[in-house]
Amino acid sequence: MRAIILSRNKNVNQLIYTELLLPQLKEGEILVQTKAIGINPIDLKTKNGKGIYPMLQEENPLILGWELSGVVTRSRSEKFDEGDEVFGLINFPGHGKTYAEYVACPASDLVKKPSNRSHFEAAATSLAALTAYQSLVHLGELKSGEKILIHAASGGVGHFAVQIAKHLGAYVVGTSSEKNREFVLSLGADKHLDYKTDALEKEHKDYDIVLDMVGGDTIDRSIPLIKKEGVLISIPSGKNDAVTDKANKNGIKGLKFTVQSDENDMKVIADYLQQGILKPHISKIVEFDAMEEAHAQIASGHTVGKVIVRL
Ligand SMILES: NC(=O)c1ccc[n+]([C@@H]2O[C@H](COP(=O)([O-])OP(=O)(O)OC[C@H]3O[C@@H](n4cnc5c(N)ncnc54)[C@H](OP(=O)(O)O)[C@@H]3O)[C@@H](O)[C@H]2O)c1
Repeated sequence: MRAIILSRNKNVNQLIYTELLLPQLKEGEILVQTKAIGINPIDLKTKNGKGIYPMLQEENPLILGWELSGVVTRSRSEKFDEGDEVFGLINFPGHGKTYAEYVACPASDLVKKPSNRSHFEAAATSLAALTAYQSLVHLGELKSGEKILIHAASGGVGHFAVQIAKHLGAYVVGTSSEKNREFVLSLGADKHLDYKTDALEKEHKDYDIVLDMVGGDTIDRSIPLIKKEGVLISIPSGKNDAVTDKANKNGIKGLKFTVQSDENDMKVIADYLQQGILKPHISKIVEFDAMEEAHAQIASGHTVGKVIVRL
């Protein structure tokens, strides 16, 4: 099968196209023929020696990628049969290996793809959608009527977070630059704020929750806007405690977060996708041969919605 491995050359990690044998299945796994892969900032961070790279660097071959949609071609699980169309977040945080024509996946990480949605839409609605769902529902415990500020509301995680927060009955304010104002409002946000202006400071205060996908200066600007005993959820923090410490020192609860592959949460996501509660926005589809193009788009920091790779 064709696959893209991460190879270290003169201290620089590079994506290399290669031929590999089909993966062997363990009990409880299924072999999925990949139809679409979602690309995320964590792919680039890991490629560049950060993100999950320290955990994976001894793996050989090391294959990036964590979200996919595809067709089951062999099954060692009672959950799925050959021919089933499935999607999900594979082995996160761990070795996902979705940059390949075939992927051995724990059956528990996947759910059936809704028949009314394409493989592109399903692949798009995995890592970023789960991140939004798990952080808002499990961590933030967002409730109807609460006021939430979602930073980078036009991005992969943010555009799902706006839709989920609205579905849960929250009052949603989303940030992006001016060019994405209409997009953020089209997702259902009650208000849009341009982060390049001082609208953030001038407009709304007393947020119950701030969901941050940006970090740095955005954190300093957000902390004064959160009500006492409100919550700041930092999505890009990883293992770094700086943001949560800063929030806690300012009398609000600072929480950091890592998305996890999870069968039950994926069932909710699949249901939302099937019902149209979640509508993935795919701004770019690139061919498997053009993976660097997909990475360059994510590296811009200005992707709207999701970037998908087609196989
Ligand atoms: N902890 C976890 O488990 C987890 C899971 C998923 C993602 N993440 C992390 O979360 C971050 C976001 O991921 P993503 O997939 O949503 O990224 P993304 O899709 O690449 O985000 C791009 C969006 O960010 C907006 N943006 C850029 N700078 C901004 C600013 N200063 N204020 C507000 N919006 C801004 C852009 O809008 P404009 O073009 O209008 O500027 C663009 O639409 C990444 O660091 C990622 O690694 C962590």
